[in-house]
Amino acid sequence: PNTEGDKTGSVKQLLSKLVKSSLRATFPDLLDIEPLVAASVKFGDYQCNNAMSLWSRIKGSGTNFKNPNSIGQAVARNLPPSDIIESTSVAGPGFVNIILSNRWVSERIHDMLINGIKNWAPALPVKRAVIDFSSPNIAKEMHVGHLRSTIIGDTLARMFEFSNVEVLRRNHVGDWGTQFGMLIEYLFEKFPNWEDVGTQAIGDLQEFYKASKKRFDDDPAFMERAQQAVVKLQGGEAKYRDAWKKICEISRNEFDQVYQRLNVVLEEKGESFYNPYIPSVLEELTSKGLVKESDGARVIFIEGQTIPLIVVKRDGGYNYASTDLAALWYRLNVEKAEWIIYVTDVGQQQHFDMFFSAARMAGWLPDPGEKMFPKTSHVGFGLVLGSDGKRFRTRSSEVVRLGELLDEAKARSKAELVQRLNENGKIGEWTDEELEKTSEAVGYGAVKYADLKNNRLTNYTFSFDQMLNDKGNTAVYLLYAHARICSIIRKSNKDIEELKTIGSISLNHPDERVLGLHLIRFAEIVEEACTNLLPNVLCEYLYNLSEIFTRFYTSCQVVGSPEETSRLLLCQATAVVMRKCFHLLGITPVYKL
Ligand code: ARG
Repeated sequence: PNTEGDKTGSVKQLLSKLVKSSLRATFPDLLDIEPLVAASVKFGDYQCNNAMSLWSRIKGSGTNFKNPNSIGQAVARNLPPSDIIESTSVAGPGFVNIILSNRWVSERIHDMLINGIKNWAPALPVKRAVIDFSSPNIAKEMHVGHLRSTIIGDTLARMFEFSNVEVLRRNHVGDWGTQFGMLIEYLFEKFPNWEDVGTQAIGDLQEFYKASKKRFDDDPAFMERAQQAVVKLQGGEAKYRDAWKKICEISRNEFDQVYQRLNVVLEEKGESFYNPYIPSVLEELTSKGLVKESDGARVIFIEGQTIPLIVVKRDGGYNYASTDLAALWYRLNVEKAEWIIYVTDVGQQQHFDMFFSAARMAGWLPDPGEKMFPKTSHVGFGLVLGSDGKRFRTRSSEVVRLGELLDEAKARSKAELVQRLNENGKIGEWTDEELEKTSEAVGYGAVKYADLKNNRLTNYTFSFDQMLNDKGNTAVYLLYAHARICSIIRKSNKDIEELKTIGSISLNHPDERVLGLHLIRFAEIVEEACTNLLPNVLCEYLYNLSEIFTRFYTSCQVVGSPEETSRLLLCQATAVVMRKCFHLLGITPVYKL
């Protein structure tokens, strides 16, 4: 057996290796066949699906194979000996059904309990990735769209990090542009001693923005000054740089409060950071013949697009696209990222399509089909809707403030928790701090999970009632399920650490086996979620895990049964995997509820 000791990577990856070597042995002349292995619930545990496409490739070329089924037979026969596989069978047009060895599955789970779930990390084909997410704009509101970007981006970052990819978590803050002229002038006007004024005193930046916009629209003299302020800021005049810094500082404080509450880490490299790189990047693109004059602006024409990508405006200024081109250049050449991922609403899809195409035309990115990396991806997401089916707003149809939204999530989850604890007479067992921490974990977890469980491309309706329901596919339900498992283990009065070293796992009952198989699929689920940039895949896995666990717990007595040790270890493994899922989704697990 050559698989001894080879425990890293997902089960799918391990089986793919075996299938690959069988394909090599069966078809020594076809070196490019990629193994097609997938989990299968109906037929066997996994299935290899290479036979049909191989058949269409080789039939009529004087092959000895008679049909796809005979190819499947040969692939099964040539699998190298391995302790992973119990048996195989070949069905219909050559599907190779693979049954895993119970013993191997049990040992894999046991090994995870002893050595930690980090050994179940999938292997991804990149070393370093940039994830550009959250990215609100200074002095404009940070709205629910930015909340989605923050939640989705953070989960992707966590999944990549777990998979041993170095992630540069980039906050591409909108901190540059002509709006700063009016903000700076308004700051001078409103706070003549602005240098000594604390950021607190300036107060709410959203109001500040509105007021300065009004000044700008109403008073031509102010507008004139604002326009000159932009020139002075861009020219690097100290007073204007300082005022700009101050304004950014206020926004940053506000953003940071949201990040702290959500437990999200980001490194800010705002648009201003890339500004100095723009001229040389545009020079490179111009020398490659990509930049053309059009209607006074400088643009890049892109095949298949009706409008060109503007990279220098008619007034000579740079824009969103020129900044993004410079940022991409920096990420590829200075930061040496292999995969650059942008998380924004789908409304920006065209912008990303266009500047990715420009980068391909410049030879920065390989053509499709040529090489996988370096690669850029736009992770688009849909709208957050209110109960009226329109864009989510407050009752007075203002933009929902994220701080207030989180306050409400916490307050509501606390009210429900307190009510329940009063009902079951357990309120006395809880300290104030526990109540606070749990309501935060549940409230913020509910907001995150309600967002992540949907395919990100769909719009979803924001509803506190739904997300805080303890039945159905919600964070509350899942956190409960986890707390219940913890309480089963606690009430057994057994020392899990000791059971781990003396005990072992057996999977003789069909529901134990289903649970075991689902547990060991964890790695390939993370792999799939990372590869396709779809966090909902992990949510679905977690929800299924808790259902499969419930089935197991209903049909298999744990405490007091002859299989108690093995079953407690299965409970523990389920809790560990659930916690890892919570962690990857940015949700804080709770141990009692
Ligand atoms: N600031 C932009 C917005 O609020 C998002 C920036 C996304 N990142 C990027 N590199 N373009 O819509």
